[in-house]
Amino acid sequence: MDILVTKSETSKLGSLDLGNVPFGKNFTDHMLVADYEDGEWKNVEIKPYAPISISPANAAIHYGQSIFEGIKAFRHENGNAFIFRPYDNFKRFNISAERMQMPQVPAEIFIEGMRQLIALDKEWIPVKHDHSLYIRPFMFANDDVIGVKPSDKYKFMIILCPTGPYYAVPMKIYVEEHYVRAVPGGVGYAKAAGNYGSSMYPTNEAKKKGYDQVLWTDAIEHKYLQEFGMMNGFVIIGNTAITPDLGEGTILAGVTRNSVMVILQEMGLKVEERHISIDEVVEAYKSGELKEVFGTGTAATISMIKELRYKELSMLFDTDKWTISPEVKRRLTAIREGKEADVHEWMYKI
Ligand SMILES: Cc1ncc(COP(=O)(O)O)c(C=O)c1O
Repeated sequence: MDILVTKSETSKLGSLDLGNVPFGKNFTDHMLVADYEDGEWKNVEIKPYAPISISPANAAIHYGQSIFEGIKAFRHENGNAFIFRPYDNFKRFNISAERMQMPQVPAEIFIEGMRQLIALDKEWIPVKHDHSLYIRPFMFANDDVIGVKPSDKYKFMIILCPTGPYYAVPMKIYVEEHYVRAVPGGVGYAKAAGNYGSSMYPTNEAKKKGYDQVLWTDAIEHKYLQEFGMMNGFVIIGNTAITPDLGEGTILAGVTRNSVMVILQEMGLKVEERHISIDEVVEAYKSGELKEVFGTGTAATISMIKELRYKELSMLFDTDKWTISPEVKRRLTAIREGKEADVHEWMYKI
């Protein structure tokens, strides 16, 4: 598939300090846009980043057919640029598309388009520890018809922004027992925009109580751990790392989650994907066996949790003494930044 490239005449990069940019605010010079119409993808274009025009009757705004991904690219000291596990996000994107009754996006647009776009804006990738280029592919319904039905037209786009460390400080987490993020049979496993919209009210309630994020529990019994805010969660009990299993379709299959499981095993820990109840966590805390609790995700990589609040109990942790999650983060960062061998072939060269 041909990708038409129109280069920007000027660059906004200018005086921007790539070592000190806020997350998600500065977009690169170009973007990718493709249209789905009459049952096929067409008009695949890389062009100067600019606002787009949509109808006030746009179906995504009214009925929520909208999905996205989050991926990172890194530039090594020798100048070579790499994307971290883009095929995993590509597969997950199309799983989300299927659940939301949206068309599949082919690799020649998602992967090849992303590769060409990043190659064009390569100078925007910071070459600094813990810094990267955040890649945001997304697709939304583009019919301009009021009426609940799958759209006939869609737009797929990719935008990019340079980024530094996110959630750098350890977090305080509130165990949520009333609101839910996902239910079996629902859309929890999809990266659908509505999942994020619906999480904002409960998250804000937790913020009012002094917490950074919620730990979602299962929708039926409020007993089993689900996700930690917008991250996958891990608890380390003794020498075992436990993360909630993906079986019921309520949890997003995180690319970082999978990478962290591999690294934990390489470090000699036992890794279990299974149901884990909050009671088991509390018991391990009380017996001194609960070593570390952390979230994983593309934006933050690893977020240590310094307080976990369940009912009246505040489980407090001295994250400065932790060794496992900092080592996982160090190894993962070293692979991404080209300082350790990429034995799993996670890095896709641009
Ligand atoms: C709800 C949710 N869970 C988990 C994750 C972590 O997934 P990944 O490691 O692929 O970024 C994300 C972020 O993408 C997310 O939005």
